[in-house]
Amino acid sequence: MAGQGLTRSCFLAVILFSGILADSLPVLQLRAVVGEIFIHELERDGFQEYFTDRQGQAPDSPITFHANLLDHPDLPQWLRYVQRSPFQMGYLYGSATDEDVGAQTIEVTAYNRYTYEIVRQTMVISIVPSPDGEMPYQADFFVKNWNVEEVLPTDVHELFQQAVDSMWEQEGLVVVNISSALDRGGRVPLPIENRKEGVYIKVASKDPFTECLTEAKSPENRYRCKLEQQPVITCYDSFSSRFRVDWCNLTLIDLRDLNTTKLVPVYGDGILESGPEFDPPDDASDREFFYDFLLIFLLLLILGLLLCLILAYIMCCRREGVHRRDMKTSDIQMVHHHTIHDNTEELREMASTRDVPRPLSTLPMFNIRTGEQINPMQSSRADSAHVPLIQAQH
Ligand SMILES: *[C@@H]1O[C@H](CO)[C@@H](O)[C@H](O)[C@H]1NC(C)=O
Ligand SMILES: *[C@@H]1O[C@H](CO)[C@@H](O)[C@H](O)[C@H]1NC(C)=O
Repeated sequence: MAGQGLTRSCFLAVILFSGILADSLPVLQLRAVVGEIFIHELERDGFQEYFTDRQGQAPDSPITFHANLLDHPDLPQWLRYVQRSPFQMGYLYGSATDEDVGAQTIEVTAYNRYTYEIVRQTMVISIVPSPDGEMPYQADFFVKNWNVEEVLPTDVHELFQQAVDSMWEQEGLVVVNISSALDRGGRVPLPIENRKEGVYIKVASKDPFTECLTEAKSPENRYRCKLEQQPVITCYDSFSSRFRVDWCNLTLIDLRDLNTTKLVPVYGDGILESGPEFDPPDDASDREFFYDFLLIFLLLLILGLLLCLILAYIMCCRREGVHRRDMKTSDIQMVHHHTIHDNTEELREMASTRDVPRPLSTLPMFNIRTGEQINPMQSSRADSAHVPLIQAQH
């Protein structure tokens, strides 16, 4: 047993060691801008090459990834990871905020799901403030017919940006954020009809919203949305048909309005201020609990007594035979005898008055010796006691 345990722990140690000593790919230097979407593709090819070099063959092995902030179990709050299947590309994406400015080191571990080999890659993301300053006008579109990892490739979300461009009529639109509808309370769709989870794409600009955009929030269109109808706005019809935007879920944010009213939480040092000790008020009047006590205690006591009395009455005064307590033993035996006698008589009487035919199974139908057959229906009234058990010899 001990040997087995030892082998197992050795085995575990080997696995752990190989984990710690796992090879790493060269460090990547990446750049993210505050207020702009950051997307990094975890190219399967690079990791695939590493695995095939070690095996000498070239199978298309499934690879999964795990990403975390260096020395932390998870990713920083602004960064997300998505991979649809082990045969597809993984993505790190997100939108950094002002608090994230600086360098963050992300560690990506790639697992070969056939051989369970792993390889690490470290990437340093330098997060810099936006050179253009803040983009105060932001519009959040809900696109129903795409999954988040499908819009992450640059050409796709640029296509979307162009579609918005044609409507917003602005130069310098920026995609601020892309997030899966699942991260915002959406549901996983049924696996039929090629349904998609949906994705939110937030686009920002320095210039105000066009009339076309604000039209979605007009009272009539809000009313139509409440009735679950799409609003009617002419300029939306020219929107690229590759993206089915839910115009009712368009959110228009004006950061200038928000910033003036934004409340900044102030954090203390976590230590209570020292002050005088708690001084209980002494002008509180005394409360009288006597009547409550009477109500609760006496009521239950009276109820209990009442139940006792009823039980005592039933037990002592209503018991049969107790009024003959002075009877002798022989008398009691006599009473006993009489009762049995009476009951027998009663049973006999009941039996004689019964005129239900006897069950067929109790009737003699076939005599083995004579071969005589008796119709059970005819002789149903005949009592088996009158049939002689031994037939006379011929
Ligand atoms: C981006 O979207 C995610 C998911 O909805 C959200 O948690 C995050 O705060 C957003 N970031 C910015 C900068 O808007
Ligand atoms: C779209 O917006 C409506 C309210 O305007 C909300 O009830 C609904 O949940 C939203 N749908 C999605 C998928 O976000």
